[in-house]
Amino acid sequence: MLSGKRILLGITGSISAYKSLQILRDLCAEGAEVDVVLTESAQRFVPALTLQVFSGRPVHTDLFENRNEMAHLTLAQSADLVLIAPVTAHFISKMAMGLSDDLLSSLLLSTSAPVMIAPAMDIGMWTHPSVEHNVSLLKKRGVHVIGPEIGLLASGKVGMGRFADERKIVSHVSSYFSEDQPSLEGEVVLVTAGPTEEPIDPVRFISNRSSGKMGYALAEVAKKWGAQVILVSGPTALPFPDDVACFSVRTAHEMKTEVDRHIPSASIVVMAAAVSDYRPRVRSEKKIKKSGSNYQMALEETEDILAGRPEGTGRQVVVGFAAETDQLLENAQKKLQDKRLDLIVANDIMQEGAGFDVETNIVQIIDAKGKITPYPKMTKHRIAGYILKEALAIKSSLS
Ligand code: CTP
Repeated sequence: MLSGKRILLGITGSISAYKSLQILRDLCAEGAEVDVVLTESAQRFVPALTLQVFSGRPVHTDLFENRNEMAHLTLAQSADLVLIAPVTAHFISKMAMGLSDDLLSSLLLSTSAPVMIAPAMDIGMWTHPSVEHNVSLLKKRGVHVIGPEIGLLASGKVGMGRFADERKIVSHVSSYFSEDQPSLEGEVVLVTAGPTEEPIDPVRFISNRSSGKMGYALAEVAKKWGAQVILVSGPTALPFPDDVACFSVRTAHEMKTEVDRHIPSASIVVMAAAVSDYRPRVRSEKKIKKSGSNYQMALEETEDILAGRPEGTGRQVVVGFAAETDQLLENAQKKLQDKRLDLIVANDIMQEGAGFDVETNIVQIIDAKGKITPYPKMTKHRIAGYILKEALAIKSSLS
């Protein structure tokens, strides 16, 4: 919750600016007091009046709006956090240069509050060397960069540059303030994420709809809480989290090799990957051609990475996932026992807002004693926090 927190929401001139209305509403719903500052070009995309109605406070656009006080100083000093969402390539350059030719850029030079930016731009701009340079400069200065993501861009192209999901941005802000943030200092957290792909021939494969978002959220939160994080990821469209040791794999076999290599040193293991259960028994070296009749393919089971894991060197807390369509709790409890887990995260993927390729999930966490904790629908980042907290509580009870 953000009760009592004063957030300064800066909006710059991107087509994604309309999405900042939802961010504003969500921040207010979490109890924050939000001061909105619009740049001149942002005003072409979102009217100040709309933002004023949603925030219930005056919206600021002008460095010289109040002759009796310096707006940039008052706003800069009262903010607990500055969030600029969306931020354009142009504004990123201004920040990197330290320019101060408008209200938002001026207050950034005066504030001592943490600054988060959520970039939104076309792929060509995001990958331009000057933008890359400026973003890495800002990161070095401690600016938190949220996204961007890969997806459909305003230009019609698909690629990196899409404004991060609004709920993800708000969840970054609220988790920054979460007072009971535990410490994972000294823990080595191994996370698996995403689907696996089992090749049929050079162009086809068996896979599933896992986006990797849950696993990546776990890796990001564990990193933020001070753990050393190892992420073994199947193919996803997500950028690797900063300061996490990331290993890309494709097949279940490759994932097993990588997990077996790292698992002995891990103190907390969270297997969020949706591993293919079957692979073609034979992989065709050449593209399989149409033959004019039905085609049958023999499948064999892949290795169960979790069940067949090697022992850790110290006592580990091992967490599995069970994405089910029916008999959720029975199936999840069976997996917990069969795979010798400390916790299992069960989710019914038939529920709206749960499961693959959405930003939210609805889970129940079951422990080895049979205690079931249900959680309401929430972002995958918040769920990641609860999973890691439960894992840490077990870890602390062991030592
Ligand atoms: N898992 C694994 N290796 C596999 C299959 C699953 O490590 N080959 C892990 C998953 O990462 C997850 C847990 O085991 O943490 C449960 O995965 P799930 O696919 O739900 O279970 P399965 O045992 O494959 O059972 P089923 O698909 O029949 O429900």
